[in-house]
Amino acid sequence: MKPFENLGAMMEHFARHGGFLTAKDAQGRTNTMTISWGFVGNMWNKPHFITVVRPQRFTYDLLATADNFTISVPFGTMSEELKICGTQSGRDIDKSTIVTFAPAKTVTSPIVAGCDFYYECRINYVDSLHGNKIPKDVDEKFYNQDWHDFFIGEIVESYARGI
Ligand SMILES: Cc1cc2nc3c(=O)[nH]c(=O)nc-3n(C[C@H](O)[C@H](O)[C@H](O)COP(=O)(O)O)c2cc1C
Repeated sequence: MKPFENLGAMMEHFARHGGFLTAKDAQGRTNTMTISWGFVGNMWNKPHFITVVRPQRFTYDLLATADNFTISVPFGTMSEELKICGTQSGRDIDKSTIVTFAPAKTVTSPIVAGCDFYYECRINYVDSLHGNKIPKDVDEKFYNQDWHDFFIGEIVESYARGI
């Protein structure tokens, strides 16, 4: 499947119910967390997936030494798994008991088995959002000094179940 194919359907599910951001760090630790903020687009003339992760997440620690991540999006299923992976930390629970990790096709971070849409991404850029560049109303609504970092990942592989 091409990276921009079926984007509308993917975003509909991702933005509404979330997907799994999974990373494996240089020490071999794997974790996944639920995300629903992110977008697919064109950067440096290549397809990229951009997402934002707050520094207090365990997944953020893993991304510090990972050079890739995967995005796994279920279509209307796995609501319990999304809830647990979006409310509990890999510091406290082993998320491989909640979801099944499976090898990705091209990157070292695994995917979450049983989803409908997958992106495998190479991290090309990381930076922090700066509070002084965010309008006051947005800053007050979403932040308590814990601004996200954004991760720009080149989509090096994309596929969907049944497509
Ligand atoms: C639907 C949903 C969407 C979420 N989206 C994000 C997100 O885009 N970025 C983020 O940093 N946290 C997001 N979270 C919160 C993390 O998933 C949550 O803090 C999680 O427990 C972090 O896990 P970890 O500490 O194992 O990395 C979301 C949670 C839910 C339930």
